[in-house]
Amino acid sequence: MRVLFIGDIYMERGREAFDRYFAVVKQRTKPHIVIVNGENIANNNGLTEAIYKDYLTRGVHVFTMGNHAFSRKDANEVLNMDYVVRPANYGEGTPGKGYVTLQFNQKTVTIINLLGRVFMRDPIDNPFTVMDRILTEIKSDYVVLDFHAEATSEKYALAHYLDGRIDAMVGTHTHVQTADEICFPKGMLYISDVGMSGVRFGIIGGEVKQGIRKFVTGVPERVFPENNGPLQFSAVLLDLEQKKIERIAIQEQYEGELHG
Ligand SMILES: [Fe+2]
Ligand SMILES: [Fe+2]
Repeated sequence: MRVLFIGDIYMERGREAFDRYFAVVKQRTKPHIVIVNGENIANNNGLTEAIYKDYLTRGVHVFTMGNHAFSRKDANEVLNMDYVVRPANYGEGTPGKGYVTLQFNQKTVTIINLLGRVFMRDPIDNPFTVMDRILTEIKSDYVVLDFHAEATSEKYALAHYLDGRIDAMVGTHTHVQTADEICFPKGMLYISDVGMSGVRFGIIGGEVKQGIRKFVTGVPERVFPENNGPLQFSAVLLDLEQKKIERIAIQEQYEGELHG
């Protein structure tokens, strides 16, 4: 079972990166299941029904979300669509679901989404104990977790906690791909962050001038996307039987970039 997981597709330029590179990556890696982190895929954050339907026809099977799951006015309807998974550690009565199970060739794979608590704003439930509960509820051949979190310490702690209990744990949210992909001792595939698909020279997708101003002055302002410059496409290929993880980072060159 090969799973292609594409990291946070960030707004319009992220969708452009998907348009440009998904087909060629799919052709080379031949995944059985494609998962996209789509919490920022629509302009102004979140996921829309139109994007969801379009991407399903193009070969995406599941969308995972994150701290922007509820950013849109129509979030409740979007989160209730069949193949959208929002963080499982929100409280009871939250719209949507925290995991979904797919069937492929007589095998089942469950995809779970969880939010971290370190340096994150929402007062959510403990991701460790929520995972304990979910693992008593599901009986799948394979389990893949998208842990949407800021801190690598929290990611590594959860990784050690889950090694031997699930098949793969990939991090999202920081928008920066880490080079620490590994198979843990008891067989769980892991990467701290898959990285972002979108503009390459933004401030994790955000507009550069505005981002600098925000940090220079300290005055909070809403983030707008950077619309200029080359693109990047970030993903991992998870081979759940062979227990191999391959990092995929397509990075377009900037015209003025120095080589060598
Ligand atoms: Fe994101
Ligand atoms: Fe996020």
